Amino acid sequence: MKTEILKVDPLNIALERSKLRYAADVIRGGGLVAFPTETVYGLGADALNPKAVEKIFKAKGRPADNPLISHIADISSLPLIAVEVPEKAAVIMRRFWPGPLTLVLKKAPGVPGIVTAGLDTAAVRMPSHPAALALIEESGTPLAAPSANTSGKPSPTSAEHVIADLSGKVDIIIDSGIPAIGIESTVVDVTSDPPVILRPGWVDIQMLAEYLPGIIYSGDRGRFCVSLQEEQGQDRGRFCVSKGTGEGGSSGHTEHHGGRCAGNGGGVGEDASSVRMGNDLSAISSSSSSNDEIKEKLIQSPKSPGMKYRHYAPEALFEIAGGRDEREIAGKIRELCRAYFAQGMNVGILSTVQTDSEYADLVRKFTKRANHRADQKTDNMGGLKSDHRTDHTAGHVPDNIETKIKTPAPGGVEVICLGDRKEAAGIAASLYYALREMDRRGADVILAEQIPEDGIGFAVMNRMMKAAVK
Ligand code: TXA
Ligand code: MG
Repeated sequence: MKTEILKVDPLNIALERSKLRYAADVIRGGGLVAFPTETVYGLGADALNPKAVEKIFKAKGRPADNPLISHIADISSLPLIAVEVPEKAAVIMRRFWPGPLTLVLKKAPGVPGIVTAGLDTAAVRMPSHPAALALIEESGTPLAAPSANTSGKPSPTSAEHVIADLSGKVDIIIDSGIPAIGIESTVVDVTSDPPVILRPGWVDIQMLAEYLPGIIYSGDRGRFCVSLQEEQGQDRGRFCVSKGTGEGGSSGHTEHHGGRCAGNGGGVGEDASSVRMGNDLSAISSSSSSNDEIKEKLIQSPKSPGMKYRHYAPEALFEIAGGRDEREIAGKIRELCRAYFAQGMNVGILSTVQTDSEYADLVRKFTKRANHRADQKTDNMGGLKSDHRTDHTAGHVPDNIETKIKTPAPGGVEVICLGDRKEAAGIAASLYYALREMDRRGADVILAEQIPEDGIGFAVMNRMMKAAVK
C-alpha cells in the first residue's frame, strides 16, 4: 500500500480543512489515517466500522485483547461510545476535555466488540489538538485510535516516527509537527468506586482528586525487581523490572532475571524513599489513607488490559538508576556505563540538565574507540558516527584520531539530555524521541535517571519502568 503524507499546519486549520476533508473521506471509506494529538500520534479508523478497526490491529501488530480508545470532537457524540455517564465522569470531562484524559465508561451497544476487546466498557477521549478535532469532525464518526507505533515500541512523537513504523501499512499520515505533551493520556476508570487511574499521564492524581476526592492509582502487576548488580553488592537504589509477558502474551508467569523481587512496598530501590510507585500491589491514594480492602479489590479486578504488555520499549536494553540525589544517580550511571562498555556494548545515557556534565569525560574517553570502530565497520554498527555525537566531544577529539588508534575497541558512549529534572513536562516531551534516537544510533543499552515523581514525573517513571521490562 502506498502511504500518503499530508502536511497540516496546526496553527492554520481553517486553511487546511480541505486536506483534512480528504483524509476524512479515507476514514469513511474504511481506511487508516495516522494523525497528531496533543499527547502522541494516533492511528485512526472509524470506531463504528469493525472491518476498519481490524486493520488497526493488523498494521500495529497489536494483540486483539488490548482495547482501543475512541476519540470524539464533540460531547454530543459521547452516547455513540458510552452510556450511563455518571456525574463523577461528567465533572472531569468538563474540566479536562478537550485534553489528555481518557475515561473508561460503560460501553454503548453500537460499539463493535473489536474496539473494546470484548469488554463491556469503552475508553473515550476528546483530544485538544486542532488537527485531530478537525479530522474527527470531518469524518462524522468517532475515531478508534491507539498510538501510531508498532506494538510495543515507544509511542510516536513525530510524523517521522509514524513513517518509520507504519509506512506502507496505512493510507495517510498527517504530519503536524511535535505533540506538546509527548506521552499518552491519563486513563481513568470511572465505572468503579472509587475511580481508578489505570494509566498515569499529564493529568495527575492531584488534579483529579480536586474533582474526585478518593480517586486512587493502581498500576498493573508491575513485578519490579532489584536487578543483576545488586547481587554483586553495588546496587543501592538501582532497579529494573523483571521479565514481563511480552507482546501478545497473557498475564501470569513472571520470570526474574536476577536479583530478588522487591516485596510489597519495596519496589524501586531501597534508598529511593521518595518513590511512591514501588510495585503494582501498592495502590496509591490521593489521600494518605488507602485502605487494604480497596487494595485487595484492585488487585483482583481487571486492569487496563494494555498495561500488562512490555511497552514503550526501545530495541536496546533499558535500565534506570535511582538514588537519593542526582549526584548519587549520576554516579551509578557512570558505574553502569563503564561496566557495559567493558562488555563491548554501545551505551546511550539519558542525562538531565543537572547531570549532563557528569558524563562528559565518559563520552570523551570512549569516543576515540567508538570512532575507530565506526571507521572499521560502519555498516553493521548501527551508526555510531561522529556527527551523531553530543557537544561533549566538541573540541576534544583530534580530526585524525581514527588513524591513530590501532586496538579494536568494544563500543562507544552517547548522551542525550532529556531536560531539567525539576521540569518533568520537558522530560516527558523528549523521552520517546530519545529512546528512538538511541536505537537509531546503535545503542545496545540505554541508561536513564530516576526523576522526581511529582506531577507528570510520575507518568514518566511509569513509562520508563514499562520500557525496562525485559
Ligand atoms: O494519548 C493517548 O491516549 C493516545 C492518543 C492517540 O490518544 N492513545 C493511546 O492509545 O495511547 P493506546 O491504545 O496506545 O492505549 C490505550 C490504553 C491501553 O492501555 C488500553 O488497554 C486502555 O487504554 N484501554 C482501552 N479501553 C479500555 C477499557 N475498556 N478498559 C480499560 N482500559 C482500556
Ligand atoms: Mg500505545
